[in-house]
Amino acid sequence: MPGSLSRLVAALCALVAAGHAAAAQDIKGRQYTPPNYVFSPFVPKDIVTHDVGAIGFQPFVDILAWETFIALNWPVPTPIVQRGVPDPQNIIGGFLTGGGEGGKPSSMPVGPVVWETFKDTNDIYLNPPVRPTSFDTPESIPPACKGIATANPAAARRTLALTSKFGEIVSSVIQADGNRLVDQNRMNVWYEIKLNRVYYDYVVANGFYNSANQKGKTIAFPVSSNSTARDATIKVKAAWKVIGLLGSRQPDDPAKFYTTEALTIDPTTGQCSKQLLGLVGLHIVMKTAQLPQWLWATFEHVDNAPDQATGPVSGKKYNFFGADCAGCPLNQAPGKGSQFPTQVVRVIPVNNVAASNNTLYQTALKTLRPDNVWQYYQLVDAQWGASPKPIGQPNQPKFLANTTLETYLQQPVAPNGCINCHGMYAGSTDLDFQLQGAYPQGANTMKGLAAIFRLEGVGTPRGK
Ligand code: HEC
Repeated sequence: MPGSLSRLVAALCALVAAGHAAAAQDIKGRQYTPPNYVFSPFVPKDIVTHDVGAIGFQPFVDILAWETFIALNWPVPTPIVQRGVPDPQNIIGGFLTGGGEGGKPSSMPVGPVVWETFKDTNDIYLNPPVRPTSFDTPESIPPACKGIATANPAAARRTLALTSKFGEIVSSVIQADGNRLVDQNRMNVWYEIKLNRVYYDYVVANGFYNSANQKGKTIAFPVSSNSTARDATIKVKAAWKVIGLLGSRQPDDPAKFYTTEALTIDPTTGQCSKQLLGLVGLHIVMKTAQLPQWLWATFEHVDNAPDQATGPVSGKKYNFFGADCAGCPLNQAPGKGSQFPTQVVRVIPVNNVAASNNTLYQTALKTLRPDNVWQYYQLVDAQWGASPKPIGQPNQPKFLANTTLETYLQQPVAPNGCINCHGMYAGSTDLDFQLQGAYPQGANTMKGLAAIFRLEGVGTPRGK
């Protein structure tokens, strides 16, 4: 490695170590603002504001969002010791070190990353509702995937079924087709929900994985703050696309995505297969003392979709928009059985505050390592509520959507928007829908909700 690069890596190592020590000794000092930026594997406890004045909270909330994104996408040690804990010797995107074969740089692992080792929602909310396995137990493997999992241990880290618990109910109640998103290669997008140790401990200690135990209880997930050492409750919802290989309609460049091998179960045939997936969307939701209606940060791959107002950039390839499909209806869910690519546009553009932070963090990630895959992700925005009430009314922004996770819910109308929708329908469960997926299912659980959603038109395609 050239001398300047090795010096930079060494300097960054030192900075990481410094960040580590600071986090342990002085929790208040944890927040680092660009340009004096320090990569840290530790999730910040809360926003740290200074000179709020006319600029308001938003820039500090965006910084909290990015710092949390960096900590949650930090690699874990191999083998995994404790789930949800980063490898402080490594760095986001993986260190490039000298001493590889033939004098080439060798690379530390890029993944799995912290949030991927959180507990899968399907391993917490069981039917019948028995106590889930410990947080450190690896993800369970569905019977259809057992054989292939033995042959592909890396891929067996995650198994994805296309329809979530909620999705199944929704698709059977609302529309025959449900809400799928189909990419330019006619492949379905896959979703998963992961919950951290604080979430898991709270749900298990209270027996809330059984809906009967939720009755009459006040549900309030633990918060983190700048004055206590406690960790925050964190929830992640991710969207993955199948990486299009050479020869596919629109081949993807795997070097531009955070990729993972996974086992996926085909919804029609029930067959399990191994796929290479690329991350395209990531919701990060975290509860802190100053953000009692949670932080709702949403990140996307930079090539997902063009802005509706400005249209596609000439010559650019999008994951979910085909320039060759000029007359295609926009943001329209595919019909039953159709694999016609969804023509996606972003209805509300990324605002200037988020955009300037994106440039700062993307540049920092690239400095760390020129081929760092995380430089290809952007914060769309971070929504928040500074007071616990009224539930469902965010301070800023008024609406927010991710083009891969709320493709058909982007218009600025109720019940779209994160806090808006979660507050409206999950106010009694501290804005959490997973608790409503607990068994047994009844009128106040996900099953009952599906009927409400149908009335509100959630999940039906929304216009151009
Ligand atoms: C119109 C309603 C609606 C909107 C808008 C919405 N969500 Fe959700 N969200 C849901 C439902 C329903 C689920 C449960 C899905 C499941 O279990 O498969 C969910 C699940 C989640 C989860 C998993 C944890 C949980 O609370 O169940 C996260 C994290 C999440 N949403 C984040 C977001 C973010 C961030 C936004 C805004 C960018 C957003 N949501 C917008 C309805 C909505």
